[in-house]
Amino acid sequence: MSVERQLFDGHGRRISDLRVSVTDRCNFRCQYCMPAEGLDWIDREEILTFEEITRLVTIFAAMGIEDLRLTGGEPLVRKAFPDLVAMLSEVDGVRDLSLTTNGYLLERDAAALVSAGIQRVNVSIDSLQRDRFFQITRRDALPRVLDGLKALSSHPEVGPIKVNAVATRDFTEQEVGRFCEFARSADYQVRFIEFMPLDGDRSWVPESVLAGEELRRMVAAIHPIEEVPRQPSATARVFRFTDGSGEIGFVNPVTEPFCSDCNRVRLTAEGKLRTCLFSIGETDLREPLRNGAADHEIDEIIREAVWRKELKHRVNEPGFRQPPRTMSAIGG
Ligand code: 5AD
Ligand code: SF4
Repeated sequence: MSVERQLFDGHGRRISDLRVSVTDRCNFRCQYCMPAEGLDWIDREEILTFEEITRLVTIFAAMGIEDLRLTGGEPLVRKAFPDLVAMLSEVDGVRDLSLTTNGYLLERDAAALVSAGIQRVNVSIDSLQRDRFFQITRRDALPRVLDGLKALSSHPEVGPIKVNAVATRDFTEQEVGRFCEFARSADYQVRFIEFMPLDGDRSWVPESVLAGEELRRMVAAIHPIEEVPRQPSATARVFRFTDGSGEIGFVNPVTEPFCSDCNRVRLTAEGKLRTCLFSIGETDLREPLRNGAADHEIDEIIREAVWRKELKHRVNEPGFRQPPRTMSAIGG
């Protein structure tokens, strides 16, 4: 890829990571993401087709997007989702094709996803205790999610498998021991993610954030850990247990923002380009796409929007405005 073709923002960051939300719908109702009654779903005609997603991804890949992550909502509720994975795994330039899922349909889909070419999977699990899992997700589904995780781990082609837990104060403290044991016993990397103001109930307050550093201290008090050198543009700080059994990570977007080396942009299910999780504005790619724009015209629209990518989020600043979209409509 020639440097002139690569995608840069106006702050000198090269953009090489695209997250595509394939649906805003979800079969869970996590407290920190969606209200119990769900949201107003986007109409089906407004959602990009598999062909449209593949065309856009091909244009992005020609600009140096190498890492592609598929998200939702819950991506596996989208009909024939593994077919999309197969289409995207054929796109030239995509080096790393990954998925974020809540795991509910993973037992059904693991084999199909692997043969379609998925390389890495993150599964969201916020509690390892059934009643508390229900309390967070409003679904009594922990055993089923764990079965899905097991089905996935029988495929050595996929790895590493990461388990993501959104941490909230007065809840996650009691999970630390269980997650440590999980990280140490199994083939999963556990990661705690700080709660961000992207929830449907608008209940986020600074006090509800359980800082990654607090969690790290709790982990270290149970088992000695040492930091693993950070990869460029990695969002997590990863630690290994010093006795060699497993890893545990901390994604701290609120207390230790990693915006300065952010390399990602996002595409929503209805084809809007978002240059930051916290963007207020977005750029529509669906209309030009459906109006017959040529690749070079869409390329220009993308470059222009990415050039204006936000320097950083302002969650910790006075006057912060929560974006109108929630996490499920952005894609994590
Ligand atoms: N803060 C932090 N993480 C969130 N997720 C969803 N909502 C939030 C939030 N408000 C996580 C999900 C999943 C990923 C897509 O984003 O749990 O792991
Ligand atoms: Fe669904 Fe993920 Fe939101 Fe939970 S966090 S409601 S699994 S989209």
